[in-house]
Amino acid sequence: MAANGPARERRETRRVDGFGEAPAYVGVVERRPRQPPVPVVLAPGAVELAGPLFGTRDVGPFDADLTRQHPGEPLGERITVSGRVLDGRGRPVRGQLVELWQANAAGRYAHRLDDRRAPLDPNFTGTGRCLTDDSGRYRFTTIRPGAYPWASHPHAWRPAHLHFSLFGTAFTQRLVTQMYFPNDPLLPYDAIRNALPDPDARRRLVAVYDPDLNEPELSLGYHWDIVLDGPAATWTAPASVPAQGGR
Ligand SMILES: [Fe+2]
Repeated sequence: MAANGPARERRETRRVDGFGEAPAYVGVVERRPRQPPVPVVLAPGAVELAGPLFGTRDVGPFDADLTRQHPGEPLGERITVSGRVLDGRGRPVRGQLVELWQANAAGRYAHRLDDRRAPLDPNFTGTGRCLTDDSGRYRFTTIRPGAYPWASHPHAWRPAHLHFSLFGTAFTQRLVTQMYFPNDPLLPYDAIRNALPDPDARRRLVAVYDPDLNEPELSLGYHWDIVLDGPAATWTAPASVPAQGGR
């Protein structure tokens, strides 16, 4: 993959300039970069050598099915989430590690920092991972997460969302973001999504319902592509706790 330094630099600049303009999300003020972006200059070809590598033996066959990681069935609406990981030129990013974490159907994370009044599900951990195939496609089977309240402001509830992490093929493509569900009434009120200044960037974080991804009598399908570079890149949606299991 060719280095896309100038385009990437512009993208980073837009991100930095936009954060901090969402008064409903006080945490973003503390987490935004305090220094201007540093241009990344790599020798031709070096960008391919900078990213981590994961092999097929590093990811187990059940890692992408979050409904089959325990002896019993988790509670909640089954969903299938799939799409392609692409670079800025529309080329598939093959063999890419895609990591996912999420709340359970009651909107609670299986995480020590989440102690709110909602039940844990003994049959749902809420973490998964997979590798993209030769067309850049990933696919997860899981349950639709519930909304949950958070302390950003009174009556603040996060819309249903899935957290995603990708390393890309170079450190300039590192991406931690969130996928949302279409027609969620909480979307216009989400301070984290609203922290992104670009309306198109906000829209691109919302998946599309895709009946072709439905598994008959089992799950509803959602399509969501992830673009790592260029003007149509998927933007970072900062988590309130930016770590695995973060809210
Ligand atoms: Fe979350």
